[in-house]
Amino acid sequence: MTILLTGGTGKSATPLANLLLRANIPVILANRSGIVPAPFKGVRFDWLDASTYGIPFDADGGIERVYLIPPPTLGMLPLMKSFIDVAIGKGVKRFVLMSASMVELGGPMMGQVHEYLRSLGVEYCALRPSWFFDTLRVNFSDTIRERNEIVNAAGAGLIGWISTEDIADVAFKALTAPTIEHTNPVLVGPELLSYAQIAGMMSKVLGREIKHRNVNVEEYSQVLIRRGMPPNYAGLMSTLDLGIAAGAEEQLYRNADFVGKRTLRVFLEEYKDAEEWRAV
Ligand SMILES: NC(=O)c1ccc[n+]([C@@H]2O[C@H](COP(=O)([O-])OP(=O)(O)OC[C@H]3O[C@@H](n4cnc5c(N)ncnc54)[C@H](OP(=O)(O)O)[C@@H]3O)[C@@H](O)[C@H]2O)c1
Repeated sequence: MTILLTGGTGKSATPLANLLLRANIPVILANRSGIVPAPFKGVRFDWLDASTYGIPFDADGGIERVYLIPPPTLGMLPLMKSFIDVAIGKGVKRFVLMSASMVELGGPMMGQVHEYLRSLGVEYCALRPSWFFDTLRVNFSDTIRERNEIVNAAGAGLIGWISTEDIADVAFKALTAPTIEHTNPVLVGPELLSYAQIAGMMSKVLGREIKHRNVNVEEYSQVLIRRGMPPNYAGLMSTLDLGIAAGAEEQLYRNADFVGKRTLRVFLEEYKDAEEWRAV
């Protein structure tokens, strides 16, 4: 049995691939180029090009389980539906979908894909992790580098930040266990932290003062658009901050199904010299 990881070179699939490798479970990583780090086997796969959907199954006839990292687009359902149908036709029995803490069954985007998997009666798990530590390194890096600030509209809202290693532990189990225990677990890290608390922690680790600057949703949407996000996606992502400010992530944290072990402090220490955060 081979496991296919879509988004195979991304933030969550990377530690997951390493866990599968260590457990000697055959794994294939898919991304748009098909170029993946050694010793993994890579395949070309593009959500936006349905002619690539069969490539992973031509490369390995034994794929029975698939990790689904959605395409970064609001209209993901038709694309993901087509691929899921192809995969089932090729013998896939189980899917583990990356959803998100604030997305419920039948909700927007991944919530609809979750609903589709449920309607098919296949084995599945829709993971609902809170915000990844890596978001601080990837999404907020420009303003941290240029102005020593984290800018968004989340106010004093608390988030149960989680490491992708902790997510990978849960995804590994969902992909490899004989049965899936929980089809829609909410995953959080060990601490609830606001952006102001994170800025304080970053100041200590990076050795310069980092501040959190709160802006309104429209301004934040513009920040995201300037970063290259399509306007409709930026609109949705900035609106999520209103939910955070109102305590939605805090509430999820208090009722989480899985609490990770890795702390943000350790993550910040690990990446303290990262190019993305270096002051310009
Ligand atoms: N960040 C957070 O805080 C957070 C929290 C909860 C949920 N999530 C969810 O996590 C998901 C992202 O997961 P991730 O962070 O592990 O992934 P990621 O780091 O964003 O990586 C994306 C992966 O997909 C590949 N990819 C990009 N465009 C593609 C396309 N058109 N077709 C096929 N592959 C493509 C990329 O490789 P190439 O570019 O080389 O093709 C890469 O391997 C999103 O759905 C997000 O909603 C994120």
